[in-house]
Amino acid sequence: MKKSVRVIVPATSANCGPGFDVLGAACNLYNEFTYELTERGFELEVTGEGSGRLHASGKNLAFLAFFRLWNELTDRRYTGLKVTMHNRIPLSRGLGSSSTAIVAGLMAANYLTGSTLTRQQLVDYATEIEGHPDNVAPALLGGFTVSYMAHGKAASLRFVPKKPLSFIAAVPAEPLSTARARQAIPETVSHKDAVFNAGRSALLVSALLTGEYKFLPDALEDRLHQPYRMPLINGTQAVFKAAKNAGAYGAIISGAGSTLMAYAAADADSEAIGRAMQQAFEKAGQQAVYHVLKLDEEGARVIDN
Ligand code: HSE
Repeated sequence: MKKSVRVIVPATSANCGPGFDVLGAACNLYNEFTYELTERGFELEVTGEGSGRLHASGKNLAFLAFFRLWNELTDRRYTGLKVTMHNRIPLSRGLGSSSTAIVAGLMAANYLTGSTLTRQQLVDYATEIEGHPDNVAPALLGGFTVSYMAHGKAASLRFVPKKPLSFIAAVPAEPLSTARARQAIPETVSHKDAVFNAGRSALLVSALLTGEYKFLPDALEDRLHQPYRMPLINGTQAVFKAAKNAGAYGAIISGAGSTLMAYAAADADSEAIGRAMQQAFEKAGQQAVYHVLKLDEEGARVIDN
């Protein structure tokens, strides 16, 4: 009977501009988790991002997600669980750090109880915990994902773009909670804006699948969430402009923010784009760091201990 497992989960960038609560992409920046069944109650060890701020409890997503599945899949007894995290993904910056904890918990519980569930099934459990599927789906499946709800369940279609892309994530010092960023969005939008976004998100997926990246500057535009969230992230317009001027196709608010993410050709000068975005943030009064990333095609992986 297996007692421990290591799980590695990628960062994710949800919405991808026009695909609010629908599109997401996995990136090659990772949080690592070890789950170990023990006899000592709940224990948590965190290094890296969030160390000193996260605590062992049934409310911590890494524990909550584990027990959500464990209690359903088995009546095997346990008297303790130790979770060890090494976090590289900054918290509350729109890069899916909480989704990594949910996905790790579900993957670990599934593995330690005999791997009876598919990743698609885990997408539905993870969505139930997270509330929307656009981060958890790419974290589980890798690549880009189109997620939707049907018959009360979350489902996702994964795809990999025809040609590689570079993602440049400019991460400001100031976090932004998803709850606050969601409150900024109005209950209803005009039919005109809905049509605008339906067109842009369809165009984005087609451009990625066909490799027709000349459409990306238009395809990354959005009217459903970004205009309402921009005032919450100082310097957004200037950072978007700086990214384009430095050679990116365009830039978007990653997830609910506060990270701003540029999309560029794989052979673009991504470092120059990152520096330009960082400087624009600094001019707007915000310290920022940047990461040059690429797509993670695999999604979360289990490493047998
Ligand atoms: N689609 C979500 C949002 C992603 O934009 O609020 C953040 O969790």
